[in-house]
Amino acid sequence: MEMIKAPRGTKDVLGDESRKWAHVIGVCREVAEDFGYKEAMLPIFEHTELFSRGIGDATDVVEKEMYTFTDRGGRSVTLRPEMTASVMRSYLERDMSRLPQPVKVWGYGPMFRYERPQKGRYRQFWQVDFEILGSPSPLRDIEVIDTSMEIYRRLGINNLSVLINSVGCPKCRPAYRDALRGFISGSASGLGGLCETCRERFERNPLRILDCKNPECKTLTDSSPSMIDSLCGECREHFGAVTRGLAAIGASVSVDNRLVRGLDYYTKTAYEILAGELGSQNAVCGGGRYDNLAESIGGPRVPSVGFASGIERIVITLEGQGVNIGEEPKPRVLIVNASEEALISSVSLLHELRGAGLSADMDCAGRSLKVQMKRASSAGARFVCVIGEDELASGTVGIKDMSDGEQRTVSRNDAVSALQTCLLDWGKR
Ligand code: HAM
Repeated sequence: MEMIKAPRGTKDVLGDESRKWAHVIGVCREVAEDFGYKEAMLPIFEHTELFSRGIGDATDVVEKEMYTFTDRGGRSVTLRPEMTASVMRSYLERDMSRLPQPVKVWGYGPMFRYERPQKGRYRQFWQVDFEILGSPSPLRDIEVIDTSMEIYRRLGINNLSVLINSVGCPKCRPAYRDALRGFISGSASGLGGLCETCRERFERNPLRILDCKNPECKTLTDSSPSMIDSLCGECREHFGAVTRGLAAIGASVSVDNRLVRGLDYYTKTAYEILAGELGSQNAVCGGGRYDNLAESIGGPRVPSVGFASGIERIVITLEGQGVNIGEEPKPRVLIVNASEEALISSVSLLHELRGAGLSADMDCAGRSLKVQMKRASSAGARFVCVIGEDELASGTVGIKDMSDGEQRTVSRNDAVSALQTCLLDWGKR
């Protein structure tokens, strides 16, 4: 029978890699606590409409990438492709506008997008997500960008490029869309100079043409009008305040007028953080302001800003930069035993050691003492507890210090406290 494999675009995170994931999530949790974000655990599937209305019908995510199915009750549900829409849904549904504003939320978990898998791009991928809901202040945009940069700083990741732009608002964006369309149609090659995808984007979502990786589309839009020049007074002022604030905190950020995001809810600030280690999927983080998302999913206006970062991409960057996250914890104490009878005695000692908070393990396979000692040494145990025939008969255990091979005998009843002392002394060496 053919062996069943994991679906394309998914990944088993195991062993040493899962330690790196735990480390990343741990650092995010620390930063969240220091910056005052509260953790939210939200559903992995939502009503499809949340995403089609929230993210936008004309986006690649909604048009082509969602895992949507009809459940047994006949409802259309979708595995979340991102968290922001869910966070806003939860804010509105749980009436969080009654709490002191803004509400700062973070969370992490798997997201699902039917994309073409490649390095750093998966169909199930994990994000850490940070959102500040209920504030129009540019200071919150700065705080969000600072939050993301602090995570990478604490992780020891360097050489990132932070790109920022303003994508305007529904007041000023239509004029820019027209200007961009006018520029493309009036260019020497006209619409014919665009790739097929961008020709489709021309009517529905022309801003995305600026984001196309195709060299011809890039050349065509090289000298296209800049969004910044079309911003209304309010968006211009907001952008100025954000860039000034970022300069004040010493953030090294470049303005990139071509930066547009793949999700339609953005207004004003949009930003991305790129890492060279990632290859073509080079964004380790993306975010921005989304002042109209709440209205598009049926709520009142809730100006908000946030970002998400892909955990797989953070880990690739950590590895690419050779960041050391410390050694894997090893069992401090290993019990070796000589006989069937000793096995039972070992199990009870192991139970006591673990109950006292010591990291301990034992051999359960009845191997020879010599083999067990060898294994204890290669497992990196600090101390070995020996329960042989003699120890069993005399109600004692042997404690061997693996650093110098010294062995002494203590009474079985004192074994736990003796090992605690041994480990304390060892820690002071
Ligand atoms: P996004 O740019 O679509 O934004 O995704 C954010 C990050 O998730 C990316 O920069 C990347 O690190 C990671 N990512 C996205 N797609 C994949 C994939 N297929 N495989 C691996 N990693 C991926 C959002 O999702 C917004 N919700 C961010 C946000 C929060 N904006 C405001 N608040």
